[in-house]
This record gives sequence, C-alpha cells and structure tokens, in this order.
Amino acid sequence: MASISYQRRQFLQYAALGAITAAMPGFSLAEIRSVRKTANSAFKADVEITLTAQAADMPILPGAHTHVLTYSGTVLNGPQTALKELPGYLGPILNFERGQKVRIYFRNQLPEPCITHWHGMHVPQVMDGHPMYAIDQGEQYVYEFEVDNPAGTNWYHPHTHELTGTQVYQGLAGLITVTDEAERRLELPSREYDLPLIIQDRSFTQGNQLRYMLGMHQRMQGFLGDTILINGQKNNVIPVKTRAYRLRILNASNARIYKLGWNDGTPLTAIGTDGGLLPTPETFPYIMLAPAERVELWIDFSDRKVGSDLTLQSLPYHISASHMEGMGGRGRMGMMGQAGQHEALSIATFKIAERTGDSPQLPDRLIPMRRWTTSNVTQPDKTVPIAIGMRHMSFQLNGRTFEMENYQEIEKIPVNSLQKIRIFHESGMGMGRMGGGMRGGRGGMSMMMSQPHPIHIHGQQFQIVSRTQANPQSSAYDTVKDGFINSGWKDTVLVLPGEEVEIIKPFNDHTGLFLYHCHNLEHEDMGMMRNFLVG
Ligand code: C2O
Ligand code: CU
Repeated sequence: MASISYQRRQFLQYAALGAITAAMPGFSLAEIRSVRKTANSAFKADVEITLTAQAADMPILPGAHTHVLTYSGTVLNGPQTALKELPGYLGPILNFERGQKVRIYFRNQLPEPCITHWHGMHVPQVMDGHPMYAIDQGEQYVYEFEVDNPAGTNWYHPHTHELTGTQVYQGLAGLITVTDEAERRLELPSREYDLPLIIQDRSFTQGNQLRYMLGMHQRMQGFLGDTILINGQKNNVIPVKTRAYRLRILNASNARIYKLGWNDGTPLTAIGTDGGLLPTPETFPYIMLAPAERVELWIDFSDRKVGSDLTLQSLPYHISASHMEGMGGRGRMGMMGQAGQHEALSIATFKIAERTGDSPQLPDRLIPMRRWTTSNVTQPDKTVPIAIGMRHMSFQLNGRTFEMENYQEIEKIPVNSLQKIRIFHESGMGMGRMGGGMRGGRGGMSMMMSQPHPIHIHGQQFQIVSRTQANPQSSAYDTVKDGFINSGWKDTVLVLPGEEVEIIKPFNDHTGLFLYHCHNLEHEDMGMMRNFLVG
C-alpha cells in the first residue's frame, strides 16, 4: 500500500495551491488552508455533523467479527434526521435538504491519510475531497457547503491518493439523500417505504476477514468479490408490505458491474438516476449498474401474496473478463475468491410479509428536464476529449496517468460554460469487436482492451447525448444493450469496449481543479484519473 510521505504531500498541496491561486485571482492560499482546519464563523450552518473514519470490528458473517474501516457520525446541530445509522459496516445515511447549509467535521482516526468526497454533489473545489487535501491521523477537515442538488441519491467515500480502492473496500462509504419541494409534491413512497440498497461484492477469509487482492490480473480487471453485501450486511432478505416502494440502489462495489433484473421477469421501473428523478418513469427488461452509478426503482408489491417473495438478481452478461475464463483462469480465479464479472448472482430478496392497502400510485410525470443539444453548448464547434488509453500496463486518460496538481491545455474549461464531452477509446484500444475481438492475441493484452470503464466526472450532473457501439451486432453487446438509462441526470457513465459516448455537462459556479476518472477503483488507484481546471 503506497502512501506518499507527509512532506511530499505537503509539497504537492502547495504546488497545487500555487497553480490555482495563480490561475484564479481572489482565491488566496491562506483562505484555502484555513478553510479546511476550522469552521468559518461567517458560514451559518443549518446542519452540523461529525464524521469520523476509524477502524472497528463488526459482525458481518456468522462467527468471528470482521475488521473493517467505518465512518461513524453524530449530529451536532440541526435535525437529528440528518443522519441515519445503518446496522452494517457502512457509514450513516446523510439526509439533506436542497438549500441547506451543511458543515461536516471530518476526522481521520486511521493510521494512513484519508479525505472524503461527496459523490454527485455540486460543491466548491476545497469541499470536493480532492486527494491533495488528504489529512493524516488525528487531523480534521471542515467541509462547509450549501446543498445545491435536486432531490436524489448521492454518496460519499474516500478519495485518498492510491488508497481509494482499499479504503472503500474495507467499509468507508455511505449514502446521501437530498430532498426538495418538487419531490415532496410527487408523494413518492417515503420513510420505511423508501429503502436504500447499497450493493457491494466482498471476499472473506476462513477467519471472516476481508480479503483484497492484488495480482496484476486483478488490478487490470478490478476487484471482484464472491459475496454480495447489501447495506453492509450479509443478510439480504428484506420484509415488505403489499404496496409500492422506492428503492435507492447504489453500486458501491469497487469494480463489479451488475445487470439488475427481477427473478420472475417483471420489468424494472426506473424513476431516478445518478442525479435525481427522471422526467417520467421508464421500464427496462434489466438495468446495467456500474460502480458509483445509482438507479431508483419503483416496485409495487400490491398484487403479491403474503408469504411469496421477489428477488433482485444480477443476470449473466458478456462484456468483459471473457478472456480470463477462456484462458483457463477460471480455476485460478476461484482460488482467489473472484467470481466472474458476468455470473448470475442473487442481490436481495423481498419477502412479502404483511398486507396493507395504502399504496400510492406511480405518478405519470416526475421532474421535468430540458434536453440539451449541441446548439446549446458554449462552443458548439469544440468538444472536450476524454480518451481512454493504455501504456506500460496502466490505463490512462487523455494520454496521461494522474498527477496531483497537473492539467493539460485540453483539460482547461471555462467556468459557467456548457461543454460537449466525447469519451472514446484511443485508436486501436478496445475498438472493433466487443469482448472477443482480440481473442487469439496475447491473453493479457486482449483482456485489457476489452475492459468496460465507468467514467465519472466531478461537479454538476451531465446528460448523455449519444452512445455509439463499433460493433452493435455482436452477441456480447446483445446481452447488455437494453440496460442503459440514457435519459436522466448522470455523473458516471459506463463506457463499453468499442463504445463512444457523447455527453453535455455544465461547469457552473465553482473554479478550481475537479477530477474526472474511472470509477473502477482499482483503475482509479492505478492512475486512471485526471484534473479539469475550471476557471
Ligand atoms: Cu465517487 Cu471521484 O468519485
Ligand atoms: Cu476503468
């Protein structure tokens, strides 16, 4: 586990701050430094909480407790409902209101650096948990921001340089909900009928301890566990009543992509994506959910019999790892506790336990959304590239791996602009046929080229304009193509091998360095991350 020395990090921080202050007048070094250590008395917080990252031992499997890392929280000020504990090893759910001013005292009790990112939230750079702000054991970072997101489901997790994967894996993650007036008017299922479903795959030793990896192959593919945890627990049976529920599903796995489907073939009804509610409910035969993506489902158990059950599964598909298995790696992987990426898995079983007659109806319309086209973007003839590539056994974005404070000319974006971004594979990388395209070549090479990458961009939510698959006829693509929700607000988009995705994204209000990266956390920790300088 590489952790850069304190002096080195300090140097990087100052170097970065120097670059930023030079680029942005009125944004002084002293200001940035003071903001993170102590509360700003001029910021009148509506909610104040503490969030501490620490080690703990928790019961996850029967028998010995598991050594984990966890966020524990308390509400210092404001509504007690701002924080809801979950029984498992995950952090508390943070419940915010749009417009609320939030102060979070983040404390690091780990014997390694840590910093926390509010994934999906639109906040200033110094509040965004950039790895340059990592704090050491015993230190505190004070976050202060106004909740400027529409109602929806976001999350928080560490963003520590080269340690994000291991820290999230060991338990550091939690859900954030945002509510607003427009959402309340819809009278969606609330309280006990509004269920979080945080999906993670983990792997355990005989002694119930978490097992991470990392061999070269596992790094290149990302970690896959053989045990599904829901909300940080192994017990995946959820008792429900005969009425409608809202399910807030977050894929908080390091690398596993799920193909969600109901076991009896019932179509999935989506009402929300990463950035909030959809304009109208939409149904899908199955939904692909990559790491960091969220989907909100409406599921109505009204017509089901008490005693029956319905299981949310991950269905088989074929977009990656085919080579691993094809190479006779199956046995090796089994030994290492890796289940194949495309295998069928049971996620959670809903047991209809009680009859009730008070179910709300699914609204026809949810939250209106104005679709952007190229004619809306600030510079219609200019497209910001995100080129996925690989050199020297590591994934790159725009030709480079992560450098703490560095950005290239093409990574400079004017503040308060609307940009078209094209995410694509560098020529020769993952082009042509999906999955099996390079079969027969060297195993390692072909596996790397057939990797899917969930690309996440910090800051405001974007719209997906188009997806182009180089080989739409392939039988592998057939197993996933009906599972993409392209109509809602997104902050993470799964880019398949051979695929090009165009998005339109606003960069409003906040200047500074904002990350974009692959949310396969092993890829991210290997450096598949870059900065945009917004200014
Ligand atoms: Cu969910 Cu940059 O992270
Ligand atoms: Cu990736």
